[in-house]
Amino acid sequence: MKRMNIGLLGIGTVGGGVFELLKLNTQEIQRKTSTDIKIIVVADKNISRAKEIAGTSIEITDDAFKLVEDKKIDVIIELIGGTGIAKDLVVKAIENKKHVVTANKALIANFGNELFELAKKNNVTLAFEASVAGGIPILKSIREGLAGNKIEWVAGIINGTTNFILTEMRERGISFVKALSEAQSLGYAEADPTFDIEGIDAAHKLTILASLSFGIPMSFKDVYVEGIKTLEQKDIQYAEELGYRIKLLGIAKKRDKGIELRVHPTLIPEKRLIANVNGAMNAVVVKGNMVGPTLYYGSGAGAFPTASAVVADLIDISRSSKVPSYGFENSKINVIPIYKIEDVICGYYLRFRVTDKPGVLAEITKLFGDKKISIDAMLQKEPQEQESEADIIMLSHLAVEQEINSIIHAIEALAATVGKVIKIRLEDLSK
Ligand code: NDP
Ligand code: HSE
Repeated sequence: MKRMNIGLLGIGTVGGGVFELLKLNTQEIQRKTSTDIKIIVVADKNISRAKEIAGTSIEITDDAFKLVEDKKIDVIIELIGGTGIAKDLVVKAIENKKHVVTANKALIANFGNELFELAKKNNVTLAFEASVAGGIPILKSIREGLAGNKIEWVAGIINGTTNFILTEMRERGISFVKALSEAQSLGYAEADPTFDIEGIDAAHKLTILASLSFGIPMSFKDVYVEGIKTLEQKDIQYAEELGYRIKLLGIAKKRDKGIELRVHPTLIPEKRLIANVNGAMNAVVVKGNMVGPTLYYGSGAGAFPTASAVVADLIDISRSSKVPSYGFENSKINVIPIYKIEDVICGYYLRFRVTDKPGVLAEITKLFGDKKISIDAMLQKEPQEQESEADIIMLSHLAVEQEINSIIHAIEALAATVGKVIKIRLEDLSK
């Protein structure tokens, strides 16, 4: 049997999961690969905790750079996270002709382009399946299973923490802060959870999905990002009354002159399967021009689901699989313009408060009519006792964002309007 020696950098949530998985499934993996895939050294800052997880029969060090120089090691698994020391270690490992497997989406989204080039130059693999949607083999599906298609759009719930928070708020009515703290204790959240709640983690993953779907360089800086922090409970309820769920979606869509790349809370019709993806689960819809919409669902975070993807990459390496990093030939990667948020096209949920008097609605619907934008649905909440103002909710048909913004300004300028208009984007996701 062949032997593949692994150096594991970071034995925290995911690293611990990888260690355990390789132990539990040794025989199954050997039946599939005829390779003994063995972690021979672990590096972690916290040596005593590392010993608790890995035992004492294995070498453990707090010097991660020792591993990337170690001639006995064939593959480095990087599970430290971030773009500081993790990047230096990955670069050194590649320069030392070691294959690298990582779950680090921040690293790939920000530095993937240069790292893939370095890996190619050194004739090694840089594998990153676990970086998007945890245990769902979504990158493999796009690169390989859908390779015969032109991808038209991708939309996904790709952050488990925020989906967990939104689900807990909707189903159990618990507060944002309590739901976040539960997500942290379950090991879903990033070391800095603002990456989750502000949509940055989802933007990292969307960057990777878009790059592999359209054959474009990693373009993280061009992603429009809005998180879930300002989302109000009442909008979750109103959306539901109108037959929609609100999810933090990452959306990458090809249009005639470029690509839309955006992460934001989104209304989705509740009859879509993806609208019913709850808790820390992830789901991604990929629309290929030949296959039509396809849906991938599974655990998007946590020790074992993520370990499952890391180990799949190890197995690919043991089989000397030669699928290009982007799924496209490196020389065929094209820079394509990314639409500004003002130019994206989608539906919109608008909520505003107006004084309850005749003629106000007519004024507002005229604003839509003047721009030739249809109103798909409307909800008017009766004023509570002793109130003279009512909440109005309108769902628009597809519109260019700057047109909707100008309607919003006009609504806010009306004498009857109280306060600001709340805008949430809406996607139908049917075709
Ligand atoms: P953890 O914080 O649980 O694990 C990271 C480990 O690396 C910790 O034990 C940490 O020690 C150790 N570490 C930090 N700095 C160093 C260093 N300089 N040298 C050696 N060890 C170090 O993170 P996760 O396991 O959750 O995440 C790892 C990676 O996987 C990240 O890139 C993350 O984004 C990604 N990921 C995580 C998922 C999840 O569900 N958790 C899912 C998908 C991807 P200490 O704790 O003492 O700092
Ligand atoms: N913090 C991430 C999430 C981990 O909640 O989805 C998985 O990438």
